[in-house]
Amino acid sequence: MPDHSQYTSSIHYDKRLYRHDIDGSLAHVRMLAKQDIISQEDAASIADGLAQVRREIETDVFPWDAGLEDLHMNIESRLTQLIGPVAGRMHTGRSRNDQIALDMRLYTKDVIAQTIKGLRGVQGSLVALSERYPKVVMPGYTHTQRAQPVLFAHHMLAYFQMFRRDVSRLRDAYKRTDVMPLGSGALAGVAYPLDREFVASELGFKEISANSMDAVSDRDFVVEYLAAAALCMTHLSRLAEEMVLWSSQEFGFITLSDEFTTGSSIMPQKRNPDFAELARGKTGRVYGHLLALLTVLKGLPLTYNRDLQEDKEGFFDTVDTLLSTLEVFKDMLASLTLHKSRVTSLAGEGQALATELADYLVGKGIPFREAHGAVRQLCQFAELEGKELSNLDLAEYRRFSPQFDEGVFDITAESATAARNILGGTAPIRVAKALAQAKKLLEDEADGL
Ligand code: ARG
Repeated sequence: MPDHSQYTSSIHYDKRLYRHDIDGSLAHVRMLAKQDIISQEDAASIADGLAQVRREIETDVFPWDAGLEDLHMNIESRLTQLIGPVAGRMHTGRSRNDQIALDMRLYTKDVIAQTIKGLRGVQGSLVALSERYPKVVMPGYTHTQRAQPVLFAHHMLAYFQMFRRDVSRLRDAYKRTDVMPLGSGALAGVAYPLDREFVASELGFKEISANSMDAVSDRDFVVEYLAAAALCMTHLSRLAEEMVLWSSQEFGFITLSDEFTTGSSIMPQKRNPDFAELARGKTGRVYGHLLALLTVLKGLPLTYNRDLQEDKEGFFDTVDTLLSTLEVFKDMLASLTLHKSRVTSLAGEGQALATELADYLVGKGIPFREAHGAVRQLCQFAELEGKELSNLDLAEYRRFSPQFDEGVFDITAESATAARNILGGTAPIRVAKALAQAKKLLEDEADGL
């Protein structure tokens, strides 16, 4: 019969938890000694051995043994080689079930902090871009149809808000991750007088799990990270889509720096926005990992079941995908060039100022619905004539409403944006304020969760 042990082995991916696993063991052993469950000497020798194990892993000389199934067994086995049978005391009052729950929580806490840092980096680039082009007016879209002029900075700061919500979701998830499960044992709690508060405080946990059965089978915190990551990737993917559109010849709004485009092997003129496209594409697999874990959990009876080992690969892949995408976006945004004259000229072109004309008639006392109808007919007329609204003369305007006068020629993309001087609107003074607030938020929350 062939050897099937590979099927249950997780060592090739759970080794990435080594630091958290060792930190957890060190805290547990210190506590065991403090409680006189093991002797100080034994605790000291286990701690020395674990330090050696960590060095070996970090210098790539650790003798990983796939036959030993998982990280915990690999470390304990090596510890036994290093310090002898006293290594066996480390696992007193502990099960691999609460041990892996601890490792995953420690790791997730770290990863949440790193993800927030990554998000801050992207937000910083959005702020920097807005500062570089604080007053450039561009077309704003609905239905991918030119709708009304907006400031480019307003558009960038829209993404700032999405990423702000992502940060807030992660912070919220952090609270529920910050719970120390050790002491739950295999499922029922343990029969030793452990000091759980001590372990929690040694490892920097705010709370202690309240039910041993829940603690060894709960992976909600991983689901929450995956869900927050999926939504964050959605935001990045939408931004990626705009980078792709805007850098096309049809739009011609931006040029991405060479570092973030690749040439075609056959068409020499092309610079393809591959990084943005890949970010958009990778979003799919992050969604998949969320659904996969939800599916793993849905039919599980309490408490620990080996199915739970399947929580890791998709999670690790999500972490790697999200963190690298955030890094790429930080630099891709920072290095893009906006074609100011192109976007500005398009902002007032075509019928982008139609709403302004309607508002103008409203200013003359005409009910909005009526003004809307008149401008709609005016637009149809201009289209038939093949003219820009700005090229019609006053007599032509007046065919649709006698209220039009010379003032219509003062309507520009700039006047249209300036008029939207309302909280959350695109008027330059509002956007300048929003930008200042965004900068302040980044400064105030520069370090930490
Ligand atoms: N490798 C396992 C996991 O990741 C660790 C816990 C194993 N526990 C057990 N009773 N087999 O879930």
